[in-house]
Amino acid sequence: IPVDPFDLVIFGGTGDLARRKILPGLYRRYCSGQMPGGSRVIGAARSEITVDEYRDMVREAILEFGKAKCDDTALDEFLDLLGYVAVDARGESGWSELKEALRDDEGIVRAFYFSVGPSLFGDLAEQLRSHGLTNPDARIVVEKPFGHNLESARALNAELARHFNETQIYRIDHYLGKETVQNLMAVRFGNMLFEPLWNAQYVDHIQITVAETVGVGGRGSYYDKSGAMRDMVQNHLMQLLCLIAMEPPARFEPDAVRDEKLKVIRALDPVDPDSIVRGQYTSDGEVNSYREDVENPASRTESFVAMKCYISNWRWANTPFYLRTGKRLSAQASEIAVVFKDAPHSIFGMDAGRHRNMLSIRLQPNEGMTLGVTIKEPGPGGMRLVDVPLDMSFADALGPDAEDAPDAYERLIMDVIRGNQTLFMRGDEVEAAWAWTDPLIEGWERRGDHPKPYDAGSTGPDDAAFLINKDGRRWRGIKT
Ligand code: BG6
Repeated sequence: IPVDPFDLVIFGGTGDLARRKILPGLYRRYCSGQMPGGSRVIGAARSEITVDEYRDMVREAILEFGKAKCDDTALDEFLDLLGYVAVDARGESGWSELKEALRDDEGIVRAFYFSVGPSLFGDLAEQLRSHGLTNPDARIVVEKPFGHNLESARALNAELARHFNETQIYRIDHYLGKETVQNLMAVRFGNMLFEPLWNAQYVDHIQITVAETVGVGGRGSYYDKSGAMRDMVQNHLMQLLCLIAMEPPARFEPDAVRDEKLKVIRALDPVDPDSIVRGQYTSDGEVNSYREDVENPASRTESFVAMKCYISNWRWANTPFYLRTGKRLSAQASEIAVVFKDAPHSIFGMDAGRHRNMLSIRLQPNEGMTLGVTIKEPGPGGMRLVDVPLDMSFADALGPDAEDAPDAYERLIMDVIRGNQTLFMRGDEVEAAWAWTDPLIEGWERRGDHPKPYDAGSTGPDDAAFLINKDGRRWRGIKT
């Protein structure tokens, strides 16, 4: 659905995220007719560049990262919507120019995207208010990392709350904007088939894997202070866990959904140190080791983490949730597997073997779902059972429309303009996630644990396999 014309200011408008995701994303929405021509996008950053220089930079970024199927005229039209103002986040310069660049017309939504480090969030919020750039309907969008522990997240929330209401604050977790992640809710709450079985009585365990083949690349200085737990588990995996485990909200509305997610986080048990495996990749001869990547030969930061956790509530009591994420693994694969319990009694006898239903939801790549069902092996060989997949791929199901589907950032930016907070994290959710994560991190720091080395291109440290194998289960998804 197209939105009305809007004004969007991107602080950090010359930065990496703006060039790779935000601006190419807006361009794609422009091409698909969703972003109206009367909108304005204003880059704001420290560099003293002209609007034309900014437009050239954005043109290059779109050509490199845009993947849009529209013509050169459309690109020129889109670039005409762009402005640029050099602004000093902590000083006085640029703010009155920025104010002039914005329209006061009623009905024009005004949004400010803070695509900058969290240390500037408070300053920007303060400047916006003191220079009269906000209005009661203005929105701010903030990126992760939203703090690095509970205390810093609380401080950030408090700083933002001094200038904006919670309904004006959009905390991005880009996983919530992914098509298949939203599909988790459609699958669970749009079907009669799954929900009655979606509990401790029928589910043996659930696995969430987010595996990446990339290393930490040029982000070493940030990553080495974070590690996989802060970079991925506290936010992306936690969100996936919430969507998989939450109770059905009464309506698909922001607070109804977020209240249910919060209850899941608050019901998470502390994790036993024996149920956490941290890893760090070593060189396979072709790529750098983690320590080389971050230029810290003594680093104890994890680039991989696997853990077993429990949610203490009626629905999930004693059902293990195995979470795993890491860099430089053998494959890029994000997947959730819901493994059901054995049928209570096999009428086919011992020879039929052990068969379990499994629903696997592939978030990326090859987005889709597979339901493993047990059938009779076709042919004359008697009653022998085999497991076969009922397979659905989104690309096939959507056909040619699949390519035009908005990516996570596009969808989320449009939701900001529409004023829909369903796919954004509320302040209390972020704090609850840190409240669960902090003691785990403090625990291994206190014990002085070293992450286990694992080969780049493998499935992670052996201990991660042991973590699940010792329970008589095995990881699904990525293979060596
Ligand atoms: C980011 C993390 O939030 O998510 C990165 O900081 C990670 O370390 C990325 O690579 C993964 O996102 P995606 O969309 O590529 O799965």
